[in-house]
Amino acid sequence: MKILVTAGPTREAIDAVRFLSNKSTGKMGYAVAKAAAEAGHDVILVSGPVALTQSDGLLEFVPVVSAADMAEAVKLRAPDCGMIVMCAAVADYTPAHPVDRKLKKTGGNLTLELKRTEDILKTLGQQKKPGQILVGFAAETDDVEAYARGKLAAKNLDWIAANDVSRPGCGFAADTNALTLYAADGRKFELPLQGKDEVARRMLEILLPSPR
Ligand code: PMT
Repeated sequence: MKILVTAGPTREAIDAVRFLSNKSTGKMGYAVAKAAAEAGHDVILVSGPVALTQSDGLLEFVPVVSAADMAEAVKLRAPDCGMIVMCAAVADYTPAHPVDRKLKKTGGNLTLELKRTEDILKTLGQQKKPGQILVGFAAETDDVEAYARGKLAAKNLDWIAANDVSRPGCGFAADTNALTLYAADGRKFELPLQGKDEVARRMLEILLPSPR
């Protein structure tokens, strides 16, 4: 199966030398891409700026910077994919008026106007092909199950991986993670705290069980 995985943060330019971003390192998404490639799938990895080495055995590696770049790269490739796993921490807001030189400081405060980025996963949910499996992540610090289930329904997903990033050893930058997978058909699976490679392998076994 052709599987598209997104990983890492996005960077939203404020000026020529500054940007807004988040703490994602790409470790979780790269682990999912690696597990899928090792399981014999054709993997496209769309990655925001990270310090990781690209995994071996990928069909395609697509480096991107901003949420708009990621939206373009994903939407171009999504129609051909059997499964899409959106693990990237895509910015929800981007500076409304980025400038192409370095902003100079003045005496007073600076107010940045931010505008919404495209919700890539929501667009994919609206354009989902028959049989395509759409998987989102939900990084939450409170009311994790309610927010995750809300995103599952609102974005027309088949699965959501709820990531309680307030738990020690979970989420952004950690080498380990714990996830709860919720399916649109009501099934629920707990993946306990373990290395991100193992979490990714277990997750794929649940999303794509081998035929018996
Ligand atoms: O990269 P690591 O350091 O290993 O950290 C892993 C992780 C914490 C980033 C990862 O496990 C995780 O939880 N990823 C999702 C982070 C996130 O942005 O969650 P969210 O709840 O804000 O977004 C919900 C879903 O919508 C996500 O699948 C996201 O990719 C997607 N989204 C969000 C915003 C946007 N504009 N477009 C999107 O498609």
